[in-house]
Amino acid sequence: MPLVRLPEPRLMFHYIRHLLKAKQDGHGVHSPFAYRLCEEVFYNHKAFYEFENLENLRTQLLKNNTILEIRDLGAGSKHLASRFRKVAHIAKHGISSTKQSQLLFRLINYFDFKTIVEFGTSLGLNALYLAQARKQGEVYSLEGSESLYRFANELARNAGVTNIHFLQGNFDSLLPELLQNLNSVDLAYIDGNHSQEATLRYFEALLQRINPNSVLVFDDIYWSEGMHRAWEEIKKHPRVSLSIDTFYSGYVFFREEIREKQHYHFLI
Ligand SMILES: C[S@@+](CC[C@H](N)C(=O)[O-])C[C@H]1O[C@@H](n2cnc3c(N)ncnc32)[C@H](O)[C@@H]1O
Repeated sequence: MPLVRLPEPRLMFHYIRHLLKAKQDGHGVHSPFAYRLCEEVFYNHKAFYEFENLENLRTQLLKNNTILEIRDLGAGSKHLASRFRKVAHIAKHGISSTKQSQLLFRLINYFDFKTIVEFGTSLGLNALYLAQARKQGEVYSLEGSESLYRFANELARNAGVTNIHFLQGNFDSLLPELLQNLNSVDLAYIDGNHSQEATLRYFEALLQRINPNSVLVFDDIYWSEGMHRAWEEIKKHPRVSLSIDTFYSGYVFFREEIREKQHYHFLI
């Protein structure tokens, strides 16, 4: 019988705290902007036409036995330690869940975002979600592993999706040039290299290119003590006016009409 692995006590503590703080709906959400976000994006479970195809692709990835050799440039993974990894295993443990990807899709669609940056492509399924949410937008998806970069390129080509620019290399070397070429970033999804120092560095770099409507999304904010500290520091930044914690990811907003900083926990 397989052993059931219990989550770390630290994670259980944060999760219970999150459940106790989380809003069930828009009641008690004071700012009109955050209320609309809650009702129309976070707690709006309307299915978009594109979801069915994308989830069919996920099902195929979960059955794909191809082995990829991966050179991980980040802080590593708790589930994917080996250099040789099966696509099915990555699809199960190393990519955004259906709920996370669909939430990002709804966010992009709601705000009609145009320029989107993803840190960490992996298999490329989430990049397809980002690209399909706004077909006239441009997605820049960064990945250090060459085999994943190739895999994701092929996935997008086969799906007929052409508005993703896949960039291969270390985030640290790709980011300065990318940001120099972009006037503004509407949404960035920071989903790789989960260390406190790197996360704060990417946050500072992205601040040069945000606009008042931008959203920065940090994945795995409870992955380690360091990531939790980074998230707390990001929330405190003077330019952040609203933060939303879904336990899996943290979302920060820079809306100028929100005069008093607000922090919410939402369930996804
Ligand atoms: C969690 S996965 C990304 C999942 C994907 N965003 C999704 O939503 O399905 C993180 C990816 O980031 C890549 N990565 C981590 N650190 C990196 C770095 N410093 N430079 C480039 N890629 C990095 C890893 O190779 C890995 O594929």
